[in-house]
Amino acid sequence: MCGIAGYIGEKQALPFLISGLKKLEYRGYDSAGIAIYNEGRIEVRRQVGKIAELERSIRGQVIEGTQGIAHTRWATHGMPSNRNSHPHRDSDGHIAVVHNGIIENYLELRNELEDKGYTFTSETDTEVVPNLIAEYFEGNLLEAVEKAKARLRGSYAAVCMSQQDPDYLVGIRQDSPLIVGYGKDGNYFASDIPALIGHVDRYTVLKNGETAVIDRDGVTIYVDGKAVEPEVMELTMDIDAAEKGGYDHFMLKEIIEQPRALKECLSGRIAYGKRVIDLGELKLDAAKAEKINKIVMVACGTAYHACYVGRYVYEKLLRIPVEVEIASEFRYRDPILDEHTLTIVVSQSGETADTLAALAEAKRKGSHILAITNVWESSIAREAHDVIYTRAGIEIAVASTKAYTTQILAIYLFGLYMAELKGKMIRREIQTIINELYRLPEKVQQIIDDNLDIIKEMADEIAEFEDAFFIGRDLDYVVAREGALKLKEISYIHAEAYAAGELKHGTLALIVDRVPVICLCTQRNLEEKMVSNIKEAQTRNGQIFSICFEGDTLVPAVSEHVCYLPKTLDLLAPILTVIPLQLIAYYASVKRGADVDKPRNLAKSVTVE
Ligand code: AGP
Repeated sequence: MCGIAGYIGEKQALPFLISGLKKLEYRGYDSAGIAIYNEGRIEVRRQVGKIAELERSIRGQVIEGTQGIAHTRWATHGMPSNRNSHPHRDSDGHIAVVHNGIIENYLELRNELEDKGYTFTSETDTEVVPNLIAEYFEGNLLEAVEKAKARLRGSYAAVCMSQQDPDYLVGIRQDSPLIVGYGKDGNYFASDIPALIGHVDRYTVLKNGETAVIDRDGVTIYVDGKAVEPEVMELTMDIDAAEKGGYDHFMLKEIIEQPRALKECLSGRIAYGKRVIDLGELKLDAAKAEKINKIVMVACGTAYHACYVGRYVYEKLLRIPVEVEIASEFRYRDPILDEHTLTIVVSQSGETADTLAALAEAKRKGSHILAITNVWESSIAREAHDVIYTRAGIEIAVASTKAYTTQILAIYLFGLYMAELKGKMIRREIQTIINELYRLPEKVQQIIDDNLDIIKEMADEIAEFEDAFFIGRDLDYVVAREGALKLKEISYIHAEAYAAGELKHGTLALIVDRVPVICLCTQRNLEEKMVSNIKEAQTRNGQIFSICFEGDTLVPAVSEHVCYLPKTLDLLAPILTVIPLQLIAYYASVKRGADVDKPRNLAKSVTVE
């Protein structure tokens, strides 16, 4: 996710802008920039790479001024480069803006502004913002920003300044975070609290739709043009707590961030023009898609489990065979594929050595390669023919959570894209699924809001055991595999996942003495089968923990602990079902005193074989 910093006060702005960006580095970025106003002019410096690169590029230069804005960019539209870095200015260079989020209607706005004579120098969505403000500017920056804001669709946290109407900064917020800091020597904007520590002792978090004006004398918050009284809080966090967003661990922060990550992953990808799904400029067009007669999905760990969701979904939607492969096995077994095979490689980091090598093997055999990854311009992204970015934002905890759910979302979007290209689904069917996809972020939020108590109870009980079993059927079995990995890798409980119908072929021998059996049951066509499998475990004294939809009665009747999920389409259930499993693993790990964010023996990105 991008980082924003802004300052106006008595001191020189540059030191805070640089230090503020450095405290936001943990958010992940690929370029940085500053804009400082002084005596009628805005000076802008932008540099691809780390903040140290930016500092090197301005070394020896005198960039004075007591008001400025700064930005670290996590690329979503337009590759990392100096001209795509923020701050962006309007054609005449009078308005400077930094932005975090995605302007969904940027193409429409850009065309309109180009028709009016504005020129653009970047590939970013952000660049429409300063030009739109300039279009409405008649001497008052705040008025122009409010008019421009009314035209924006999508997510944004943006801070703006003008060299024609200086001496204040304007901040606007919709979905992406923006914080206002009240300082003794001036006032501040920042994407997150770490940047403000040591500079302010009070802050307010801008709410969606609010506009903030900060100047040397104070802060004013507006709603629909009217000044309102903000909720001002004392800043008491230390830097470590602040980087975790106030949570005890990055993993919990990243689990809680999933509704926003899912919205970012969806943002701008549902078009209603010639196609319903807009995944950008994929080389896999209708002609190529027509010739695809097999899909191979390759990954490691959690990404491998996301691929398995893809297999069930693609075989249902596209009716072509889908093979799912562990990358370290795939690369050495001389796999059978050719130019009619689509190989999809999934990787959060985009740097996993085995997955990268599997990609090379598939490419060598003539397969078309699609990468689904979270890191812009990562090795896997660069080597693939096509890329879909999950836009989950940086994931720091070793245990992958928001990367997994956004990988699955990207897999759904691509499946609908292919179904449309290959004429496997009519638009109404696609629309039904998309409408429900758009409801998933709020349903994930509902699970987090409504179920923490029952989930903590489940985790506390499971944490008392050294073994645990996850069972399910169809898509539930696939998610059970991810649930077992989550619990295993951060609580060190020996957890295994089994197809529920497979229990009686061996594993049932281990279901004794109240051992936890976590049962996933969202696939309604298999519910009765699943209930009988649960009974098999229950009658052998297994302790039953079930995850099912609200309103279900059959499963709770044979369970001791139940976590209810808001209803969704069976096909889309994995994105909801995994949330309780992530939280169970998290709380069990905390209960057992394990190192949640950095579990023993594991690394976040396995860049060696
Ligand atoms: C998942 O919680 C683990 N951290 C691990 O299995 C991870 O998913 C695997 O190493 C693949 O990483 P990648 O997605 O970056 O390729």
